[in-house]
Amino acid sequence: MINSLGTLSAVIGSQWGDEGKGKITDILSEHFDILARASGGANAGHTIFVNGEKHVFHLLPSGCLHPDKPIVLGSGMVIHLPTLLDEIKTLREAGIDVVPRLHISEAAHVVLEYHKKIDGVVEERRSGAGGIGTTMRGIGPTYADKAHRIGMRMGDLKKDEGEIKKYFEHHANFAVKMYDISVNSEIELPQLFDAKKLLEKRITNTVSYLHKALGKKRILIEGAQATLLDIDHGTYPHVTSSGTTVTGALQALGLPPKELTSCIGVAKAYCTRVGAGPFLTEISGKRGDELRERGGEYGATTGRPRRCGWLDIGELKFASRINGFTHLNITKLDVLDAEPSIPVYNGNDVTELPGWQESTVGKTDYLQLPEKAQEYVEYIEKESGVPVGFIGTGPGREEMIVRSN
Ligand code: GDP
Ligand code: IMO
Ligand code: MG
Repeated sequence: MINSLGTLSAVIGSQWGDEGKGKITDILSEHFDILARASGGANAGHTIFVNGEKHVFHLLPSGCLHPDKPIVLGSGMVIHLPTLLDEIKTLREAGIDVVPRLHISEAAHVVLEYHKKIDGVVEERRSGAGGIGTTMRGIGPTYADKAHRIGMRMGDLKKDEGEIKKYFEHHANFAVKMYDISVNSEIELPQLFDAKKLLEKRITNTVSYLHKALGKKRILIEGAQATLLDIDHGTYPHVTSSGTTVTGALQALGLPPKELTSCIGVAKAYCTRVGAGPFLTEISGKRGDELRERGGEYGATTGRPRRCGWLDIGELKFASRINGFTHLNITKLDVLDAEPSIPVYNGNDVTELPGWQESTVGKTDYLQLPEKAQEYVEYIEKESGVPVGFIGTGPGREEMIVRSN
């Protein structure tokens, strides 16, 4: 089945993020030649468990543990350089050097320390109108600079140090005037120069690189954030600042939609959300707390407790319509093992589906699932109209059912 995904496949979050995109990306990466992140930045936190060891990626694609696979950081990304250097260092310490296989878009934007400050200032200023609960990673302010056409891009790191300094000061000046913040060049500039030293040769025209590979090599796109956080189609203003759908990812990489061969929508068997904003199926009280504990629902980036709720099929249908999912990956089915019955919102009313109250942990064969768990999966499939190709039964790389249909 994995072979039928074709030469350009995307993994896209269908809820409010943290669905388990990292895990399926890591599993699929073995079968692909080039691994690409398209947009977003270190607001993403993608966790994988390989041989019992936990790895969290914020900027690098989650498949990067697979040796020798080229890695693309696409033009739609906003890159916080110390975070990228840290991820590279952590992998180096584990014996993996990703630098020679990095292809970083010269058009990707740089997140500076002062963007994080602005994130805090804006969040505070708008708190009267209700904050967003951002990750404070400077994402919105960096994309705002991009839209204002005053941003610093990865390609700017190719200039000499004197020019970078001038360029940085010119841009920082805008920020100081607009937001009444202070900027610390003594911290910012060495960060830019360190990144230049390590990465300058890896900064390139990733659009040309990907187009040379199109149709010949298998390219896997790892989405970040998720459909309901999309700047255009999400629950605005409680969204992130980038396009998070598959079309957003293709735009961010400069790839034509007609080349896409498959799109996997990732959805938890229930639902979570971090930060503020509407959440129709949210569970309050003890039941919600229990689900949070069973699912380990704490943010990989900020450690914040995630709000928990039941699956909303109406939203899933919306995400499928927008993205054209060819397959679904239902994740964390095992987290529902103890539930006596499982409420699902079908877009009109709440339906109670019977629970299975049996362990599904680590199952890899669909027919090994309890009958009621199969019925739950088939209900989602029927209501959403999208085949469920993958079912997560635990955090580990092996804990996934791959269906043959
Ligand atoms: P992402 O942002 O979409 O990549 O998701 P995160 O990594 O932020 O959050 C998903 C969390 O659920 C991680 O801690 C994963 O290790 C974990 N996870 C993923 N799939 C499964 C699954 O099928 N079962 C269980 N129990 N945990 C899972
Ligand atoms: P992954 O890729 C969950 C949420 C934040 C906040 C809103 C805006 O791990 O699924 P931002 O910092 O982007 O300006 O915050 O978006 N958010 C995420 N929630 N998973 C993510 O990424 C998220 N990235 C942003 O919590 O509500
Ligand atoms: Mg996450």
